[in-house]
Amino acid sequence: MCLRLNEGLSVIFIVCVEGHLKTIVQAYLDLFCLSQEKLRQVSGQLKKDMVRGLGKHTHHKAPVKMLPSFVRATPDGTEKGDFLALDLGGTNFRVLHVRVVEDLQKVLKMDSQICAIPKEMMLGTGQQLFDHIAKCLSDFLVSQDLKGQTLPLGFTFSFPCEQKEIDKSILIRWTKGFNCSGVEGEDVVKLLKEAIHRRGDFDIGSVAMVNDTVGTMMSCGYRDQSCEIGMIIGTGTNACYMEEMKNVKRVEGEDGRMCINTEWGGFGDDGSLRGIQTEFDLEVDKTSINPGVHTFEKMISGMYLGEIVRLLLLKLTEDKLLFEGQTSETLRTPESFLTKFISEVEDELSEEGKQPILSQLNLKWNEVDAHVVRLVCDTVSSRSARLCAAALAAIANHMRVSRKLDRLKTTVGVDGTVYRKHPNFSEELQETVRLLAPKCDITFLVSEDGSGKGAAMVTAVAQRLSDGYCHLTLHHHFILNSLMGYTFSYFDCYYI
Ligand code: BGC
Repeated sequence: MCLRLNEGLSVIFIVCVEGHLKTIVQAYLDLFCLSQEKLRQVSGQLKKDMVRGLGKHTHHKAPVKMLPSFVRATPDGTEKGDFLALDLGGTNFRVLHVRVVEDLQKVLKMDSQICAIPKEMMLGTGQQLFDHIAKCLSDFLVSQDLKGQTLPLGFTFSFPCEQKEIDKSILIRWTKGFNCSGVEGEDVVKLLKEAIHRRGDFDIGSVAMVNDTVGTMMSCGYRDQSCEIGMIIGTGTNACYMEEMKNVKRVEGEDGRMCINTEWGGFGDDGSLRGIQTEFDLEVDKTSINPGVHTFEKMISGMYLGEIVRLLLLKLTEDKLLFEGQTSETLRTPESFLTKFISEVEDELSEEGKQPILSQLNLKWNEVDAHVVRLVCDTVSSRSARLCAAALAAIANHMRVSRKLDRLKTTVGVDGTVYRKHPNFSEELQETVRLLAPKCDITFLVSEDGSGKGAAMVTAVAQRLSDGYCHLTLHHHFILNSLMGYTFSYFDCYYI
């Protein structure tokens, strides 16, 4: 058995569930169990796909996009100023006013506002979406008495984008339930600016675009300068890391490093994960709004975990292994089992936690049912944690080998509701990474609002560079032509 079940639970399970029942339930759960050997293979495959994604001639067909961010180093602690930040990546959109204080080496969130994005808008036109964003921003500026000012803006846009410059970023494709027309293939900054100009009641300064993984790494990097990986396990999943420039074949230059947004959610889109996808994963993919896209993400992230559990519970009920074979209208309704229910069911401390959930789903349940439901949740979330660990190990092992190190010591800045809220997800992930990347010492640092503050950090540096206050030093091998080619660069700067 490769579940994280503690002994106590196994015993209860064995006592509660008749041998025959247990065997059949277990057969379904075994589909989700990935041995260490299997995880090693997954990790090895991702490593190969990362190299394909970085390659000049292999990139266009690679499922793992490995997008250059043009961020060339982590923060140096001298950044400062007032900024606006926008954060779009899930069902909510946030506007923030952020102050970076050099003396305190702190990024302060002055205030923020959340605006919901209605489901229809996630599937409507791009113009509607950006008009809504511009309206929220306008309301926020009024509430903060900032409307007269033209502040620089960091835009965390958590979808795969081909970054051309600091303020030019082309959406490759929507993920996580968004599918607004007229945005894929377009420059997202341009669409935002057009929406602001349509309103004509306020203006913004320079804009810096950033993926949430990069924001997370940057915001943690301000606190811990060995933070060179950013990871998100929330509605979606993804990671970025500092790659050796010599490996980034699509960008000129051999020296120094650049942050690469891996977009690991797309891993498996070429069928390489077919061997470990279950019938439930295939069903989730088939019924999603983007079949065949972001295969890895659909096995891992918060947008999909609850639905995998629901499909599994439905199957077990139809096979008369649960709830005396009686399903309910609610259980048959797609997306009725929320991912947060998984954490609630698995929370050791709230044994009664499952009662309201199962009753809420209008199911008639007994103790055995409750234990089986818990096993199902445990199995699905455990697979997610272990798959994430395999992916993270691929990155860490790759960094260690590229840097020709015996041991790699690094910090991962991490964020996302699944990682933060699930009772044992982080523990299982960390334990598995240690097994799969034995020559890497990895510290995990939970980001304090990386999507908001990280975007402000990136903007802070872009601002500092464009103000011309910095003097480039080449001792970190950062080359001048990078600055000429791309304004979106972190350099080691000294104020002059
Ligand atoms: C997106 C990534 C993002 C991740 C986490 C994925 O669906 O493609 O760009 O970083 O979600 O929010």
